[in-house]
Amino acid sequence: MRRILLAAVLAMLGTSLPASDKTMDGFISGLMRKMTLREKIGQLNLLPAGEIVTGAEINTEVSGSIAAGDVGGVFNVKGTDKIRALQEIAVRKSRLGIPLIVGMDVIHGYETIFPIPLALSCSWDTAAVERSARIAAREASADGICWTFSPMADIALDARWGRISEGNGEDPYLGSRMAAAMVRGYQGDYSRADNIMACLKHYAMYGAAEAGRDYSMADMSRVRMYNQYLPPYKAAVEAGVGSVMSSFNVVDCIPATANKWLMTDVLRGEWGFDGMLVTDYESIKEIIKHGTAEDLADASAQALNAGTDMDMCSRGYIGTLEQSVLDGRVSAEAVDRACRRVLEAKYRLGLFDNPYKYCDPKRRKKDIFTAENRAAARDIAAETFVLLKNDNGTLPLKKEGRIALIGPLADTRSNMAGTWCVAYTPERYSTLRESMAQALGGKAELLYAQGCNITADERQQKDGEFGKAIKRGDDALMKAEALAVARQADVIVCAMGETAEMTGESSSRAKLAMPDVQAALLAELVKTGKPVVLLNFSGRPTVLTWEQDNVQAIMNVWFGGSEAAHAICDVLFGDKTPCGRLTVSMPRATGQEPLYYNHLSSGRPVEEGAKRYYKFRNNYLDVRNDPLYPFGYGLSYTSFEYGEPRLSAATMERNGGVKATVTVKNTGDRDADEVVQLYIRDRVASISRPVKELKGFQRIHLKAGESREVTFDITPDMLKFYNSELRHVLEPGDFSIMTGPDSRRLKTVKLTVR
Ligand code: NOJ
Repeated sequence: MRRILLAAVLAMLGTSLPASDKTMDGFISGLMRKMTLREKIGQLNLLPAGEIVTGAEINTEVSGSIAAGDVGGVFNVKGTDKIRALQEIAVRKSRLGIPLIVGMDVIHGYETIFPIPLALSCSWDTAAVERSARIAAREASADGICWTFSPMADIALDARWGRISEGNGEDPYLGSRMAAAMVRGYQGDYSRADNIMACLKHYAMYGAAEAGRDYSMADMSRVRMYNQYLPPYKAAVEAGVGSVMSSFNVVDCIPATANKWLMTDVLRGEWGFDGMLVTDYESIKEIIKHGTAEDLADASAQALNAGTDMDMCSRGYIGTLEQSVLDGRVSAEAVDRACRRVLEAKYRLGLFDNPYKYCDPKRRKKDIFTAENRAAARDIAAETFVLLKNDNGTLPLKKEGRIALIGPLADTRSNMAGTWCVAYTPERYSTLRESMAQALGGKAELLYAQGCNITADERQQKDGEFGKAIKRGDDALMKAEALAVARQADVIVCAMGETAEMTGESSSRAKLAMPDVQAALLAELVKTGKPVVLLNFSGRPTVLTWEQDNVQAIMNVWFGGSEAAHAICDVLFGDKTPCGRLTVSMPRATGQEPLYYNHLSSGRPVEEGAKRYYKFRNNYLDVRNDPLYPFGYGLSYTSFEYGEPRLSAATMERNGGVKATVTVKNTGDRDADEVVQLYIRDRVASISRPVKELKGFQRIHLKAGESREVTFDITPDMLKFYNSELRHVLEPGDFSIMTGPDSRRLKTVKLTVR
């Protein structure tokens, strides 16, 4: 009784009771004693918005299922009114009144949208990333949501894969730091009403989809998994993530959702994960398509026996598990285990104390799309842009003369936020054209022309829009208009590249260069002889080889969220200095993919940066091996100079440590941030090791002319790897310790470990 009273008071204050494990266990055991097998299976059933609501109406079949206790959770429903109505059915009409868990794909913001995750990672600013997740959680929780399907921690090496946009790029160390930051940001310790549960996905190896084609198989050695692909997932688990989503792909030729080794032995056994495991959308059904189950009953039994708790959308558990228990295909204990985990998640979220904890209508006004949240999104977005080229100080632009803004991304509202933003409200976001006019405030004349379509292929443009349409017009007419505008201007700013939905789920591309009509228009604009600035909108690394040779300035602006347009202007006109650094290698040609800096050495390597072809060597006839822009790369409006790295001692004991120090100087005339990077290479080991691996970074702020010593602790952990027996070991010997501004421009010192 006292607990209930206390809970009521805390609920009024917007907080809830911390979940003590003992009280939770007792509460859940008591509840489960009252539950029928059917009701327990009902808790494992997760349904999507599409089946639940049409407009404002709740589907009667679904409300019947909720009342019958057949539904454990719902997702991607927006609005406290609908969510409250659903929750009321569960609480008031179902026999035991168990509240629903309410999820959503809150991937990079709720209504205030932050840059896409790939862009966020390019900030190399874990505090900013944590803050973005914190704000997303505050907004989502103010609108009925208590569970987000984020972070995505899939390492992605292949830019053809559209979902590279949803992760943190190609590096396991950086990816681990970012995934952990997001978990901290979303969840905190669950005690407050504005914390929500995170869901780590897509476990595992989803980003290794063969040929970069979404939903393809992924196959690799376990040594590779442990060293390269699993670390970010593990880091999220160590950060306390409350739930995990399995991936669509097979792992060791077994669908992840039915893979006991992955779900139970590694995740729970080795890493100690004790939260809830949910499938991806219809993954249980898809086990049949993978050819490893006869039918839905077989697939569902396999998933449950592998350790999967909740079934997203397949209706396999609710449809078949009761019978499977009777048949002895699955045990009642396995159902109990899964049910307990779902109930624990609800308990930790405080839903048993107050099922309407996340349905406070007053919070909507107070917490969502506030000036403060938008200001944070604008600041963070500006940190994610990567300046790739800037000849003769073309950027920042002066607010004077005539500026021509041209391109299909220049005047679109819906595309600014990027892919995967279920709750977004694009009508409230600015287009780049609007923000530029505002930023210029009449000091310079702004001219505008769309100039071209996204691509000449109407069908392809439509397929890549998914509700975020760009106006289509006649390319010849639009080009003529754009050239007329360009000729009157002093400088041309091009907003070109991909639409938001040409990236993300189911948006693989086999050609990564600027699409046809955009490339043709850009070439014509360059021919005018006016300085051209390319703002490259992209959700992946794209091929900018021609642009690098011909355009004066290039800035990759990704998809920067609801405040993207303002943030772009902040950097374009020099109110802020660009400081993003690539977390993915940008190729010279699509055929280089998958392209990543931390590869193993071939037995027939060519030297890094080799410009010509060598017969019988590990290279191409027609393109260099190295990327156009390497991992870690990004320019600034100032310049930095790096000294040689120095070690506090040339040798280190296996369990000891040394310090590596490098002097970095801001040699330009602007104060700016720099990301100082530390890489290592294990020279000789029992297995082949990457040619370099990021092991540390520090974002520092240097005033113009200032220099600073930056020190990294070299710890045994940094030098360890998983050997062929999957043991995490440090093997004594020589290591290269490298520091510099990116993965290419590094200076090295040798460290010997005894
Ligand atoms: C499928 C996607 O793969 C996953 O990332 C997402 O969270 C679910 N659908 C739910 O929308």
